[in-house]
Amino acid sequence: MSFVKNFVWGVATASYQIEGGAHEADKGLNVWDVGSATEGRIFEGHRGDVGCDHYHKFREDVALMKELGIKAYRFSINWARLLPEGVGKVSEDGKRFYGELLAALREAGIEPWVTLFHWDYPYALYLRGGWLNPESPKWFEEYARVVAELFGDSISHFILINEPQVFLGLGHSAGTHAPFLRLSDGEVMRAAHHVLLACGLGEKMLRKTCKHPIKVGTSQAYWPSIPDTPDDYRVAKQDTFACHRDFGSVNYYTDPLIFGTYPEEFRAWQEECGFSYPESDMEIIRSKIDFYGVNTYSGNRVREQNGKIITLTPTPATPKTDTRWNVYPDVMYYGPKFLFERYGLPIIYTENGVALSEWKDLNGEINDDCRIDFLKRYLREMFRASCEVPIYGYFYWTLYDNFEWAEGFSKKFGLVHFDPETLERTPKKSAAFYKKVIETNGEELFR
Ligand code: NOJ
Repeated sequence: MSFVKNFVWGVATASYQIEGGAHEADKGLNVWDVGSATEGRIFEGHRGDVGCDHYHKFREDVALMKELGIKAYRFSINWARLLPEGVGKVSEDGKRFYGELLAALREAGIEPWVTLFHWDYPYALYLRGGWLNPESPKWFEEYARVVAELFGDSISHFILINEPQVFLGLGHSAGTHAPFLRLSDGEVMRAAHHVLLACGLGEKMLRKTCKHPIKVGTSQAYWPSIPDTPDDYRVAKQDTFACHRDFGSVNYYTDPLIFGTYPEEFRAWQEECGFSYPESDMEIIRSKIDFYGVNTYSGNRVREQNGKIITLTPTPATPKTDTRWNVYPDVMYYGPKFLFERYGLPIIYTENGVALSEWKDLNGEINDDCRIDFLKRYLREMFRASCEVPIYGYFYWTLYDNFEWAEGFSKKFGLVHFDPETLERTPKKSAAFYKKVIETNGEELFR
């Protein structure tokens, strides 16, 4: 049993979580640089300034990926490293860094999948109102143009914006992620609308500027409702796309992008919050999306009871990861089916992985059998789904343990152990397993 030919096997990272080099050359600050330097924001005062020092060690990291058999690498560009003020002047050093990284990947035969924005918003633009400023979509469009002009030749796959659910929900509503705002729902809707306009303008700009055919997609935080029994399929799907009056749904963002309209239930919520916009915006937002990228880790089990949808409390026997996410492998089966039925687009798992509490043993090894078990369970379900709907790629989150946002370095998702004191990288047992999965195009999962 193996996946389709040319299935994309990769790993994913994000600039702020690994790069470090926060104050190198003329790099501008971003909201996470500022947030992680503020007391009380991050677990035990961890800082992202040095990160995994990828800024200095990227050649070593590319060599490591090659050794691990990785075929594709999803990473993000640190907007303020390239454009220190967010717009205007381009940094020579930023240009050099990403140019050299792309060249090293090309040489290693690793396909780059580039995310334009993975939460590290330029601080200079934040001071001008950030995503609340009506000019913000244009700023993103300019940034997309610069990336396409400088690096378009070496990139075939772009992801516009990573997980709007999280940087809007946690960053602009709950206030637990940078820029640590607690805006009213109506204001968050306004910021979200600007994010969508940015996606629409960015997508068109990338296609106009790149001189070769490119694929443009999304990366949504997708936490679907899972049917408790196969009979609950319909209600689970309904619940996945229902308006729960928060910013966590995928369809709030991708219906506008793909269909050019907000979902009806959400429009009623927008009205209640007094949020409105010119209808002509929707034509700007509507984009040609080539693949539906999802980041899936878990979901909620639901069932229909007396004509109502109820969310089930996990049983005490439900395995939990170190981030306390329930291990529900069948989320990888139902999730893509719901999406494909709604959008009809090929699906890429742009992220999936597991945080475990682990450390190097006395022999200097990390025998992370639970991660191997997690991969087997989740990817077998992904395979089941791929027999029914098109799934063309999988990116494990993440290459090495890194700066997990407000949790600092305390949550370890990596295939490779990272020591924040010595900066040493040590592949875990799961890295060798993933290598075999790639070599056998998935057959290893069933052995
Ligand atoms: C989603 C985010 O895109 C990534 O930055 C984060 O580290 C992982 N999931 C794990 O929480």
